[in-house]
Formats: sequence, structure tokens, C-alpha cells
Amino acid sequence: MRKLLPCLLILLAGSPVFAQHYVLIGWNDLGMHCSNQDFSTFVVLPPYNNIHAQAILVGDSLTLPQVVTAGLRVSYQIPGNTYSVGKTNFWDYAFQIFGATLAPNIGLTGNGLTGDLTKTENYFAVTGVPITPYTDADLLHEDPFQLGFLMLHDSVTGQIFTTAQPVVPVSNEINCVSSGCHATVQALLNQHDAEGGFDPANTPILCASCHSSNALGTPGKPGVPPLSEAIHKKHGEFTNDCYKCHPGPNTQCLRDVMKTQHGFTCQTCHGSVTQVGESISSGRIPWLQEPSCGATSCHGSKYAEEPGKLFRQSRGHGGLFCSACHGEPHAIVPSGNARDNVMNISLQGYAGTLNKCSVCHGYTPSGAGPHGLSQCCLGTRGNVNNTGIVDLSDLSALISYLTGGGYVLPCTEAANINGAGIVDLSDLSALVSYLTGGGYVLPSCV
Ligand code: HEC
Ligand code: HEC
Ligand code: HEC
Ligand code: HEC
Ligand code: HEC
Repeated sequence: MRKLLPCLLILLAGSPVFAQHYVLIGWNDLGMHCSNQDFSTFVVLPPYNNIHAQAILVGDSLTLPQVVTAGLRVSYQIPGNTYSVGKTNFWDYAFQIFGATLAPNIGLTGNGLTGDLTKTENYFAVTGVPITPYTDADLLHEDPFQLGFLMLHDSVTGQIFTTAQPVVPVSNEINCVSSGCHATVQALLNQHDAEGGFDPANTPILCASCHSSNALGTPGKPGVPPLSEAIHKKHGEFTNDCYKCHPGPNTQCLRDVMKTQHGFTCQTCHGSVTQVGESISSGRIPWLQEPSCGATSCHGSKYAEEPGKLFRQSRGHGGLFCSACHGEPHAIVPSGNARDNVMNISLQGYAGTLNKCSVCHGYTPSGAGPHGLSQCCLGTRGNVNNTGIVDLSDLSALISYLTGGGYVLPCTEAANINGAGIVDLSDLSALVSYLTGGGYVLPSCV
């Protein structure tokens, strides 16, 4: 018995029946953070990244899943990126620019490249992670979409329950000179009016010290337009190319499903450069009033953010953030960048919205889930065999079903391609038209 007991304990410890099963989901708040690399002349944004996470205690047919923080701790790191000093000269100028005395590799909110997220309501968050787009292995080429590594621990024993790999996006591709627009940084500064006490020689210059910026929380000086208003209105006279300044021709920060599958550009959602600026003159609050999924011309109220909140602040099904299932703004999954898809592939086996109910529920509930949807028909119709995408195998399945070939429909609603009553030959024509480029647009399930 004495010999047997340790063996039994080991067996029990390894048994999934007794282990609590968690899912960890992490994401970045914005989909991209820009930062200057050089802080000696002028400064728009410091290295500053925000990572969020939610932990879910997986349910089963008797128990609902729970979003949990109690007794848990989430740690973060960016494998292959362990230091920032030298990859940028931020630390040489942090005091002059921000009045902050910072230890090397520690950012403006006291956080470094590794550490713990802080519990906040029903989620975990860390702000101001001073990551640069340069990995330790390559100091010359930007890697703007590095994978972070989050670990969910028992806060007492440190035991690791599970991990997640969200992208921690950052780019230095803020482009004034390399875009071919300004000859040198000094030439750019010399162009600024002397008004308001602007002195091109008194570097480093924090643009947001006079022009308010809600990204930095600076109030600006009275009578000076917010930075976003000044910059977009002035430059809208010369360009409508967002990638002249936002990252950028190399980075391609807009990589989400609306770009890759529906051809969206920045302007589709934000309007032109001039409109981004003019809308502020007309009362829009920069950074805090942005486009929304729920706008009536887009997805409508069923898929809306919480009233008065941005996408990144909103929560939906089960108290989960929109981003927990959909990814970050500008990187809504399935993303054109493979790294954005890593996390959901590891959770549910395929890229795209986290829509496999059993990931959190432990089984497939029959009740209505997110947005009132049930598991079997999600997104657009046409996924006859219920395996991820709509392709030729769905056509074979539908033909087999309709011609008495014995195919059993796993989800009748999904096979009801045109959404009209029953599954019949008109659904087959619709699917053929869609798959052969005949122009049929698959309607959504709901
Ligand atoms: C010392 C205060 C101060 C600082 C620092 C400052 N600005 Fe300005 N800026 C102003 C004032 C005042 C105006 C309005 C002047 C005017 O109406 O032409 C202005 C106007 C502008 C305009 C509009 C110019 C036009 O002709 O319409 C742009 C663009 C601009 N600033 C960009 C920047 C950038 C970029 C930086 C950082 C490199 C910066 N500013 C830093 C005070 C400042
Ligand atoms: C001339 C450079 C430049 C161009 C071109 C430009 N931006 Fe910006 N944009 C900036 C800068 C600088 C900021 C940061 C302002 C701040 O810190 O408040 C910014 C901030 C923003 C913001 C956040 C602030 C806000 O107003 O809500 C949005 C949204 C935005 N840009 C959208 C766009 C879009 C969309 C385009 C193309 C249609 C575009 N920008 C083109 C320089 C530019
Ligand atoms: C599908 C619509 C859509 C497209 C396309 C789009 N944006 Fe946005 N953008 C949004 C939404 C929604 C937000 C608010 C996100 C949030 O913070 O919750 C936003 C916010 C922003 C912000 C403020 C920071 C933030 O994330 O809140 C900037 C800057 C910005 N967008 C720039 C751009 C640029 C540059 C492009 C093109 C490269 C672009 N956007 C394309 C929808 C879009
Ligand atoms: C628990 C996961 C989950 C959460 C949380 C969630 N969604 Fe969804 N969402 C889904 C699923 C599943 C679909 C169906 C389409 C699919 O599978 O891609 C969907 C679809 C959508 C669509 C596309 C609708 C269409 O016309 O195809 C939008 C827009 C959307 N959600 C917005 C939001 C917003 C805004 C929030 C936060 C308030 C949110 N979602 C929260 C799971 C979620
Ligand atoms: C990312 C995790 C996650 C996914 C994916 C998910 N759920 Fe849930 N679900 C939850 C959580 C958390 C709750 C809240 C439990 C509670 O209220 O205590 C919940 C609650 C529910 C409930 C109870 C009623 C309610 O709305 O609170 C139903 C029914 C449900 N989910 C169905 C679904 C279906 C169907 C799907 C797949 C289409 C799905 N869920 C996908 C996490 C998830």
C-alpha cells in the first residue's frame, strides 16, 4: 500500500476527470500600436502596448462555462524579444519628453517586456508594454506582428493551466520622411509655423504637448487644434493615402476579414484623410469616437457594440469581450496575417471567429449562443457539410442529399442556401452559382 499510494496520486493528478479545464484568450486592444523609433527630434507616440486576456472555466452539459479571475494569475512575455534599450533611443529621452524617470526596458506605466497582467473586473490587462518591432535575432528588419505568450497560472501554486499566443502588434513605420513626403525631419520641423511658441531647434518636440492627443492623454494648449485634427486636415490637401503615415506599405496594419474578403480600405470605415480631420472640427472626439460594427449601414443592432462604447471596450455573450471571439480591430479574424489566426486555430482547430461552442461549453448547447445564433448555422449559409468553409465538398454533399444519395444533413439551416423554406433544387442552383463565380451572394443564417 505504501508503494502503491504515490502511484495512485500521480495517476489522479494526471487524470483529466479531476483537473479543472480552462481556456485562455488574449488580444491586443487596437490591432496596431505605432511608435517612433527615434526620440531625439520629434515624437508622436512612445513604445506602448496593451494586452488583454480572459480566462474561461470550461463547462459541461450540466454547468455553464464561467469567465473567471479568482485564484488565477496571467503572465506575459514575448518570446525572442527580451529587451528594448538600443532598439530605440526612447530611454535616452523619456525624462526630457515625458518627465518620467524610467529604468531600462521599463515603459511609461512601470511595466516591462515580461510580467503579470492585472485583474480588472472580469478580465486581465497590462498597459504600456514597451515592445519594439525588432526581435533580438534581427535588429534591422521590423517584425510588426510578433506572437506574445500568455500563461494562466494558479495564483497560489503557480501551476500552469493553459497558454495563449496573441499577436502583440507594433510598428515604427511612422513615415514622414521614408514616405517620400518630407526631405528630412529638420525640414519638416522648419515648416511648422512659429505660432504658439513652436521652436524647431528646441528638440525633442512632443507634438502632443501643444496639440491634445487622447492617445497620450495630453490636454494640449488652449486654442491649438487636437493633433489628429491638425494633421489630417492639413495633409488631406496633399494625400488620401493613410499608409503615407500609418503603418504602412510594409506593415499593412489593416489585415482583417473585411479587407481580405470584402475589399475594404481604411476609407470604407473612416472616410478620407480630410474627413477624419473635418469630423473632429464638427465635434467627433479623436480616438474615442470611431466607426462601429453596429452602425445601421453595416451590421446593425444585433451585432452592435455596447451603447456608448467602442468595439474594444464592449462585451457580449457571457461577459466576453467582442475581441475574445473576433480578434482585434483591424485584425478581425480570419485575418490575412497568419499570426493573428494562431490562437483560434489552437482553440478550435480552424481560423476565424471563435464560434465552436464546445471550446467553452465542453459540449454543443442547443440554446441560442452569441447574437442569438445556434451552433449549426453560423455566418453565411452554404456550409452544407458543416466543416469550416463553403467549397466543392458542400456541393457534393448537397447533390447527394437531393438525389437520394443518402447524405444526412448535419445542419438543415446551413443547407437551406437561399433561406427560402425548404432545402430543394433552388438551393443547389444558388450554391452552383456562388461556387462558379455566377455572382450569387450567400445570405446569412439569421
Ligand atoms: C509649441 C506648440 C506646438 C507644438 C509643440 C506643435 N505644434 Fe503644431 N501647431 C501649433 C499651433 C499653435 C498651430 C496653429 C498654427 C496655425 O494655425 O497655423 C499648429 C498647427 C499645426 C498644423 C496645421 C498647420 C496648418 O498650416 O494648418 C499641423 C499639421 C501641426 N501643427 C503639426 C504638428 C506636429 C506634427 C508637431 C510635432 C512635430 C507639432 N505640430 C507640434 C502649435 C504646436
Ligand atoms: C499625414 C499623416 C497622416 C495621414 C496621411 C493619415 N493619418 Fe491618421 N493619424 C496621424 C497621426 C500623427 C495620428 C495621431 C494623432 C494623435 O496622436 O492624436 C493619427 C491618428 C489617427 C486616428 C486616431 C485619432 C482620431 O482622429 O480618431 C485615426 C482614426 C486615423 N488617424 C485615421 C486615418 C485614416 C483612416 C487615414 C487615411 C484615410 C489617415 N488617418 C491618414 C497621421 C496621419
Ligand atoms: C472595417 C472597418 C475599419 C477599417 C477598414 C479600418 N478601421 Fe480603423 N477603426 C475601426 C474601428 C471599429 C475602430 C475603433 C476600434 C476600437 O478601438 O474599438 C477604429 C479605430 C482606428 C484608430 C484609433 C485607434 C483604435 O484602434 O481605436 C486608428 C488610428 C485607425 N482606426 C486607423 C485606421 C487605418 C489607418 C485604417 C486603414 C489602414 C483603418 N483604420 C481601417 C474600423 C475600421
Ligand atoms: C462568444 C463569442 C462571441 C462574442 C463574445 C461576440 N461575438 Fe460576434 N459573432 C460570433 C459568432 C459565432 C458570429 C457568427 C459569424 C461567425 O461565426 O463568424 C458572430 C458574428 C458577428 C458579426 C458579423 C455578423 C454578420 O453579418 O455576419 C459581427 C459584426 C459581430 N459578431 C460583432 C460583435 C460585437 C460588436 C461583439 C461585442 C459586443 C461580439 N460580436 C461578440 C461570436 C461572438
Ligand atoms: C468563448 C467562450 C464561449 C463560446 C465560444 C460560446 N459560449 Fe456560450 N457562454 C459562455 C459563457 C461564459 C456563458 C455565461 C455563463 C453564465 O451566464 O454564467 C455562456 C452562456 C451560454 C448560454 C446560457 C444562456 C446565456 O446566454 O447566458 C447558452 C445557451 C450558450 N452560452 C450557448 C452557446 C452557443 C450555442 C455557442 C456556440 C454558437 C456558444 N454559447 C459559444 C461562453 C462561450
